[in-house]
Amino acid sequence: VIVGSHLLTNIGELTTNDPTFGDYSALGRLHDAAICFEDGYVVWAGPAGAAPAADEATDCAGAAVVPGFVDSHTHLVFAGDRLAEFTARAAGQPYDTGGIMDTVTATRAASSTELAEQARRRRAALRRSGATTVEVKSGYELTVEGERRLLEVAAHVGDEVTFLGAHVVPPDYATDREAYVELVAGEMLEACAPLAGWADVFCDRGAFTVGEARFILERARERGLGLRVHGNQRDDSGGVELAVELGAASVDHCSHVNDGDLEMLAASMTVATLLPGAEFSTGSSYPSGRRLLDAGVTVALATDCNPGTSYVTSMPFVIALAVREMGLSPDEALWAATRGGARALRRNDVGWLGVGARAHAVLLEVPAAAHLAYQPGSDHVARVFDGAS
Ligand code: NIG
Ligand code: FE
Repeated sequence: VIVGSHLLTNIGELTTNDPTFGDYSALGRLHDAAICFEDGYVVWAGPAGAAPAADEATDCAGAAVVPGFVDSHTHLVFAGDRLAEFTARAAGQPYDTGGIMDTVTATRAASSTELAEQARRRRAALRRSGATTVEVKSGYELTVEGERRLLEVAAHVGDEVTFLGAHVVPPDYATDREAYVELVAGEMLEACAPLAGWADVFCDRGAFTVGEARFILERARERGLGLRVHGNQRDDSGGVELAVELGAASVDHCSHVNDGDLEMLAASMTVATLLPGAEFSTGSSYPSGRRLLDAGVTVALATDCNPGTSYVTSMPFVIALAVREMGLSPDEALWAATRGGARALRRNDVGWLGVGARAHAVLLEVPAAAHLAYQPGSDHVARVFDGAS
């Protein structure tokens, strides 16, 4: 008996995302399987009949087990809502980045306790839906002290923390954008860098230009932060090219990608993160994930949970959208929501369930993970394991 071990057995379909298992596909899939965790890590996986003894055992009764979802892009720390904006969009109004300032106003007015409480609730909802690793960004105060405060809250609820002082240019800098860019890349970055692992810039129409984004991201890189880019959501904005040029870990949205971008992405270490919740909520057309995958690009899926464009806390819902609207197969979508998300965060310890990986897993209520797309509207999560169990 392995001390402190936990065996999940009678698993109908086990997705390990470790190609050395099972059918040797990227999904590393086993049937009638078992997996053993010890001290928060996977120590064994294989046929149920060959499972080792363990201190504790869970009979999965033929249901599927998948790696915990890795949500590599969220904006969980905010106050207020944008229901009126959503309702107006439902009546035909297009998305405009101006709404971000409504959330900034509400967030600035909220106490840190209130912000932390709301962010915790959103994080709990994500976990209930199977997300075991979550990235959280700042970006809704846009002042030196405010962004710092948001990062402090983010550190409590997120596994990865991203500084997004360059979300939009606040109106008080409208006539002097350069001053805001200097502030973000200077004083704000100095105050925020110790609290974040990553820096992100919204490089798009209505936000920051490629030149402004490059300036900020280069300063962030000098301070040791990893880079991520909100790119090509509203336009063919040059964000993808910039992300690849700077060696960013991911470029997110990718709603408008040209053939040159596709080639650059395929030849790079930069992950293309698709956020179908944003297209869903804004009523925009979905980009083709198929086109990215066929070109050899590594794709991740994330919720983009935020009050303006994607008030979504369910990775299974994101998977369902990606399958139906972006041309991913259920297997590709599952991989993108797990190992793809881990790649986007440059994490090798999560997003898979091979030996040595963290024991972050989700026991589903369905016999195969493809049911997440097939039966949308419910998360089908029976139990979440995130290392503590
Ligand atoms: O990822 N695109 C930029 N930021 C968010 C939207 C934020 C907002 O509208 O509040 C996004 O979609
Ligand atoms: Fe976002």
